[in-house]
Amino acid sequence: MKLTLAPMEGVIDHHMRHILTRVGGYHHCVTEFVRITDQLLPPVVFHRICPELAQASETDVGTPITIQLLGGIASVMAENGQRAAELGAAAIDINFGCPSRFTNSKVGGAVLLKEPERIFEITAAVRKAVPKTLAVSAKIRLGYENTDLALENAAAIEAAGASFITVHARTKVDGYHHPARWEWLGTINDALTIPLVANGDINSVEDFLRCRAVSGCQDFMLGRGALIQPDLARQIAAVQAQPLQLQPFVPLMNWREASVLVAELVKLMQAQPGIQQKKVLGRMKQWLVYLRRRYPEAGVLFSEIRSLKALQPAQALLRLSAA
Ligand SMILES: Cc1cc2nc3c(=O)[nH]c(=O)nc-3n(C[C@H](O)[C@H](O)[C@H](O)COP(=O)(O)O)c2cc1C
Repeated sequence: MKLTLAPMEGVIDHHMRHILTRVGGYHHCVTEFVRITDQLLPPVVFHRICPELAQASETDVGTPITIQLLGGIASVMAENGQRAAELGAAAIDINFGCPSRFTNSKVGGAVLLKEPERIFEITAAVRKAVPKTLAVSAKIRLGYENTDLALENAAAIEAAGASFITVHARTKVDGYHHPARWEWLGTINDALTIPLVANGDINSVEDFLRCRAVSGCQDFMLGRGALIQPDLARQIAAVQAQPLQLQPFVPLMNWREASVLVAELVKLMQAQPGIQQKKVLGRMKQWLVYLRRRYPEAGVLFSEIRSLKALQPAQALLRLSAA
C-alpha cells in the first residue's frame, strides 16, 4: 500500500509537505499544479512551486515529489513535462480535475473530462516527452456533469501509457462536498491494468478502512484529511501494518503536538524573504479551520484569532492554547 499527500493549491506547499511528511506515513507528494497555457515556462516557475527540486525533488525526510501540470495543449504540455523532468522532478502528474471556472475556460482541468481524445493526446504527448525512467500519471474526477465518461477517460489514460491513475471520486459538478463515490473507484480499477490511487473523503482511519473495503484499491491519496489530522498517514500505515489491531499502534497526535506544527508553519513562512504578515496569518487561520474538525482547541483558537489583523497576537494565543 502506498499513501500520497494530495496536491492542494494554496494549502499544501513545500512548507506543508515538509511538516506532514516528517510526521510520517507518506510515500509520495504531488505539488500544486503548474498552470501551462501556450508556452514553455522558465525554470523559476517550477522551482517556485517545487523548491525541493534543489534537493533532488524530495522532502527533507526523503519523500519524492511529483510535479503536477495543468493545461490543454498537448505539445506545450509535453515541452513543459520535459522541462520538469530535466529540472529533476521525481515524476510528472497531469491535472484533469481542477473545477475552477477560470482554469476550465482558459486552459484545462476538469473541463477536459468531456473529451477523452484530448485526455489521451495530452497524456501520450507528455509520456513521450519524459524519460521512461520517470512515472507519468494523471489525476481525474469521475466526470464533469456525470459519470458517463469515467471509464472512457480512465481507459484513455491507460492507453496513453500512464504509469498509474489517481481518481478523485467525485464529478466536477459534485465540487468538494458531495460524498465521494467510492464504489466507482472499484469499477474503474476493475477495468484497468495500471494501478489506481483512490482519493476523496478519507478523513480518518475508519474512512480509509471503508474506502479500501468498498473500492478494493491498494493505494490512496489523502487531501483535506491530511490537514484535519496531521498524523492520519502515520495512523493508516500503522493500521495497515497491524491489520488485526483495532486500536492504532501509534498514539494519536494530541492538540499540543498539532499546535507545534502550526507554529512551525508560521516560523517557516516568516523566514521567507519579503513575506507579508497577513499572508502568514491567513495560512495559520486556514489550517485551524481544518484542524478544528478534529481538535476542539483549534476551533476555540480560530474564533479568538479570526478577526485579528496582526500575526504577533495570534502567535501569542497559539502558544497559550498549547500550554
Ligand atoms: C483548496 C484545494 C486545492 C486543491 N488543489 C488541487 C491541485 O492543485 N491539484 C489537484 O490535482 N487537486 C487539487 N485539489 C483536489 C485534492 O487534491 C483532492 O483531490 C480533493 O480535495 C479530494 O480529496 P479529499 O476529499 O481527501 O480532500 C484541491 C483541493 C482543495 C480543497
